[in-house]
Order: sequence, then structure tokens, then C-alpha cells
Amino acid sequence: MKIAIGSDHGGYELKEKIKSFLILENHDVTDYGTNSLASVDYPDYGKKVGEAVVNGTYDFGIVLCGTGIGISIAANKVKGVRAALVYDDNTAYLAKAHNNANVIALGGRTTSEEAAISIVNTFMNTTFEPRHQSRLDKIKNIEGKE
Ligand code: RB5
Repeated sequence: MKIAIGSDHGGYELKEKIKSFLILENHDVTDYGTNSLASVDYPDYGKKVGEAVVNGTYDFGIVLCGTGIGISIAANKVKGVRAALVYDDNTAYLAKAHNNANVIALGGRTTSEEAAISIVNTFMNTTFEPRHQSRLDKIKNIEGKE
């Protein structure tokens, strides 16, 4: 799959681990930063990955901050992004099956490497259930009213 990934300093270390795993599994990963533990602002990276997913040819995006909360809020401000904060296999499954999330958010300080890899695998191996499409259309309508 073609995946865009990005984080702030709080998600940097987990981002690097997820990225290594995905590359090892032969996925095509583009890293939008950050590239160190130096303090940065998570909205900048949520915006970068969100815009890349909406405007590009990525299958989905992964964003990380300390908790995943701030960067998911930021990514969701980009029109067309459906970012889901996921913290276990069940939420990863539902984020795809019910919400057709195009970005998943993880917390570098709240999620272990093992859980994160499992979450990403679950998300990638789940398909959207079209019976939920009308709800997604309603989300799109909300965006249209900005
Ligand atoms: C940065 O210290 C921290 O606030 C950020 O990574 C994130 O957890 C915000 O939601």
C-alpha cells in the first residue's frame, strides 16, 4: 500500500518503528516528518499528512503525537480527511469498516510498539462496509457548510 506518515516529537519514536515495519513489509511509505525529538507543533504535521492524503494517491495516512488526540483534531480540519484516533485492534477495525477512515492517529506515549503494529495491520486488512456510506455522506455535507 501507499502510505503517508507524520508525527510531532511525541510520536516521533513510534513513527520510526511503524515506518520500519511497513518498509520491511514492502509498503511504499512517504514520511512527512518530524525527523527528531526536538519540540515541534503537531498541527503542522496533521495538516501535511491530511493534505497529502486528500490531494495525493495514498491509500491512507498515519499521524502520531503524544496521545494522538491533538494531531487527529488537526488532520480532521483538512477537508476530506476522516481521521480516527485508534488505540486497539477493535477501534482500528471499526475505523475502517464503519467510518472508512483515510487517516489513523496513534499516541506515541500511550500505545506500545506491539499494539501499534497490530493496529496498523488490522486497519490495512479491513474493508469498508458500504452500508455505512450514507453516514459518511452526511459528514461530507457538514464539510460543505463551512
Ligand atoms: C506535545 O507535548 C503533546 O501535547 C502532543 O504530542 C500531543 O499529545 C497533543 O495532543
